[in-house]
Amino acid sequence: MVAGYAEPMEPSAIGKRKLKHVQVCLDYPVEYQTRTAGFERFDLPYKALPETDLAEIDMRVSFLGKTLAAPFLIGAMTGGAELSATINKNLALAAQQLGLGLMLGSQRVMLEQSKARSSFMVRRYAPDVLLIGNLGIAQLNKGYGAAEVMSAIELIEADALAFHSNPLQEALQEDGDRDFSGLVKKLAELVPTVPYPMLLKEVGHGLSVQVAQSVKDVGFAALDVAGAGGTSWAKVEDYVNYGEVRNQDLTEWGIPTATALKDIRKALPQMPLVASGGIRSGLDAAKALAMGAQAVAVARPLLKPALESAEAVVEWLEHFLWELRVAMHCAGAKDIASLTKLKLLKRL
Ligand SMILES: Cc1cc2nc3c(=O)[nH]c(=O)nc-3n(C[C@H](O)[C@H](O)[C@H](O)COP(=O)(O)O)c2cc1C
Repeated sequence: MVAGYAEPMEPSAIGKRKLKHVQVCLDYPVEYQTRTAGFERFDLPYKALPETDLAEIDMRVSFLGKTLAAPFLIGAMTGGAELSATINKNLALAAQQLGLGLMLGSQRVMLEQSKARSSFMVRRYAPDVLLIGNLGIAQLNKGYGAAEVMSAIELIEADALAFHSNPLQEALQEDGDRDFSGLVKKLAELVPTVPYPMLLKEVGHGLSVQVAQSVKDVGFAALDVAGAGGTSWAKVEDYVNYGEVRNQDLTEWGIPTATALKDIRKALPQMPLVASGGIRSGLDAAKALAMGAQAVAVARPLLKPALESAEAVVEWLEHFLWELRVAMHCAGAKDIASLTKLKLLKRL
């Protein structure tokens, strides 16, 4: 039990909920239906004479102090339940094999229940990857502070930690966290005291320009826009609660990923950004990188392969990265720096 945690939850309840989330994400249509991530509104300029060699395209980047073979992070998903151990192990093995980054799911369950720790212990499978831990920001209003953040990072030997801020999901979740007040101030006090890179992310409803601006001096190493257009976590909660969508409008609400990315990049030109939420192809990724993201992240599409095997995850990722490579080649971008110089065209 974490010191100062005000309202202890039945420990296994968090683990059970995590499992339900995984099941719902696998079995129900939890993606947005009336909203897209917005990348179809833009074209990467196609170049019939690219002057590049597909085999020589260099996708390597440096992100948060580590070199990645491509600017790709496996999105934050899960941990805690037995099933999560399989998922995280397969994701970690694949990230290590391909030289990509790995974000883990919320570690609250492992801080409050030591039994749940092993599912997060993936360093042994992925000694070299950029490993990013995860906690919910609302926990800062329930007694969490620097000690819990440091435990979350150091217990799993992570390189960094992402805070997720998810007021809409929590509002729709039975027993969800409702109090998001005073958090910018708490972050401004906490983040500078943590000697590891910290990120802020949503979970698929998007960070706005105003939110990005409100934390611009907090000291985050990067913001992950985690926008709308892919998995709707409000929808996941409706399916968990009712087996159907009862809050149609709320579950389709959010800032499309391309919009969030474009607007935040313009307002904060120096802030490192991750584009996630509905990134579904290498071409989406190429557009997001050209729009100014330093990396992209993908979550739900990797869930099914992760339950199957590390090889299935590798296969999914290799196809995605091949698409990114082809997109770069056919746009004449020999490396990521060249890709980021391209100007996207607005589709008519
Ligand atoms: C099964 C599952 C569990 C998730 N758990 C977390 C979590 O614990 N913490 C977090 O920050 N995001 C979590 N997410 C949200 C993702 O990181 C991501 O922001 C969101 O799903 C949108 O990306 P996508 O459209 O590629 O799925 C989870 C996503 C999935 C599919």
